[in-house]
Amino acid sequence: MLIAGFVMHRIKDIDPMQDTVRKIAAISPIVGRVLDTATGLGYTAIEAAETADEVVTIELDPGVQEIARLNPWSQALFYSPKICQIMGDAYEVVQTFEDGSFSRVIHDPPTFSLAGELYSGAFYQQLFRVLKRGGRLYHYIGDPNSKASGGVTKGALKRLQEAGFARVVRKQDAYGVVAYK
Ligand SMILES: C[S@@+](CC[C@H](N)C(=O)[O-])C[C@H]1O[C@@H](n2cnc3c(N)ncnc32)[C@H](O)[C@@H]1O
Repeated sequence: MLIAGFVMHRIKDIDPMQDTVRKIAAISPIVGRVLDTATGLGYTAIEAAETADEVVTIELDPGVQEIARLNPWSQALFYSPKICQIMGDAYEVVQTFEDGSFSRVIHDPPTFSLAGELYSGAFYQQLFRVLKRGGRLYHYIGDPNSKASGGVTKGALKRLQEAGFARVVRKQDAYGVVAYK
């Protein structure tokens, strides 16, 4: 799926399934209650629900949900009893969750130029707040070797540390970073 010309999943030398598996593996084991900040076609939510107790997933765009309804590979989003879908802006919805209420956070937002607030220090502070002590955050950013994503990664690492995360590491093969509380 394309949004504003950007592919929602990696498709060059890899397929969306492998892309999803790498994202999830970056913060395995996936246990307890999981927050997935950006549903998209639901691949990360569905994969996480394999081992999590519950997955709460948020999507802003009703059009994306409509496409997911039509997509054979998204069907578990609608029938899995472990997946709770919320329609809304993750920036606002996350503020309503209790402190320490998630064991894992999967943060797979649109590219920085489309959703800068989801890469802000204020939003990272909220993700830190809703994570349990010992919890982990996976944050997709993009190809670390590209000029654009490399710069975004640098800024994100700094802001995640400032938000309070004890350790923040790059995950080259998952095109993102992992932050530990
Ligand atoms: C990269 S995709 C997520 C892909 C998803 N992890 C998957 O496995 O299919 C990002 C999604 O975030 C949604 N989105 C954009 N801004 C948002 C916001 N403020 N809150 C929640 N979702 C948002 C987009 O509509 C898009 O569907």
